[in-house]
Amino acid sequence: MSLPEAIQPDGATHVRYRGRRLVYFGGCDYYRLAHHPKLLKAHTRTAARDGLGTGASRMTTGNHPAHEALETALMHFFGSETATVVGDGYLANIALGQAAKGRFDAAFIDEKAHMSLRDAAQFIGCPVVRYRHCDADDLAKRLSRRRAAKRVLLMSDGVFSASGRIAPLAGLAKRLPRLATLWIDDAHGAGVLGGRLRGTAEQCGLAGRRVIQSIVFSKALGSFGGAILGPRWLRAALLDGNPVVTGSSSLPAGLARAALASLELLRTRPGLAKRLRRNTAFVKDRLLAAGLPAGDPAFPVFSLDCPGKNAAALCYRLLANDIYPSCIRYPTGSEGAFYRFALSSEHTREQLERLIITLSR
Ligand SMILES: Cc1ncc(COP(=O)(O)O)c(C=O)c1O
Repeated sequence: MSLPEAIQPDGATHVRYRGRRLVYFGGCDYYRLAHHPKLLKAHTRTAARDGLGTGASRMTTGNHPAHEALETALMHFFGSETATVVGDGYLANIALGQAAKGRFDAAFIDEKAHMSLRDAAQFIGCPVVRYRHCDADDLAKRLSRRRAAKRVLLMSDGVFSASGRIAPLAGLAKRLPRLATLWIDDAHGAGVLGGRLRGTAEQCGLAGRRVIQSIVFSKALGSFGGAILGPRWLRAALLDGNPVVTGSSSLPAGLARAALASLELLRTRPGLAKRLRRNTAFVKDRLLAAGLPAGDPAFPVFSLDCPGKNAAALCYRLLANDIYPSCIRYPTGSEGAFYRFALSSEHTREQLERLIITLSR
């Protein structure tokens, strides 16, 4: 297996591919903030003054004021007791798994959880039981076989990135013991879902439950990096010799400042989320009307399975309509080949219409 062909971004909604300028529905930059002048300014100003990297872990000399400012802003934005910034989202899950060691008697994980969550499960130090994808009844069955477990942990993506499916967290939570903890990998839900854009738990009405969120800055926030949002014991464990926090270089300060700028934009410019929701509703209603799979109506992603020759035919049709063919083939092969389309707040009505017409033919 080789890497897919490199693509050159060209503004917020286009890429250059094989010498052509194509509309881009790939990636997860749901507000296209990676191109926003405020983020670019925050990043370049900080990098020019403080350098490209910190050159050390946060536990040595790499703790920058930007990390602390970002943690304060994250706590306010997401309403969490603590926030801890790390190098990226994959590391956030690994650090969390390490920090959770010895805290739980049994963990239950969605069978399609992101690979970083599955990797992280190895560190928790308790039996980890897989339940069927998004299936609360199957979770209940597996829980009933582990009645002796008092301290229970549920691990799931908030939104499954390949399909755009939102985990049925309310239904899953109902099956859990009252004091169970939910660990939501909210890489995709944070900044997109919920009235205050706090993510999937907010969208599913889980206020009052014990929730830990791992989030990334590389999707809705348009920057790069990761963070762990949760209770005080978790922060204490992360600062007490956690291998990721101690042994990996801290997030470059420019990226932390860019993430700060995007939180500020999401907080002060409700038009961004409104436009994303309007674009999502527009496309999903039209897909359903055309009898095409639209995925979850609330999330700006949908995917089409394309076995065999159909994949090539769709690729041809997309290219003929100046749309980048965002075909995904994971080397693990677990998902097969599929086309994934991510809508953004910045796509124009004409671009969305073109996508719908191309897919409906
Ligand atoms: C669900 C999920 N979790 C974690 C990650 C890892 O995040 P990062 O790319 O910041 O390492 C991703 C990234 O693609 C993701 O989709």
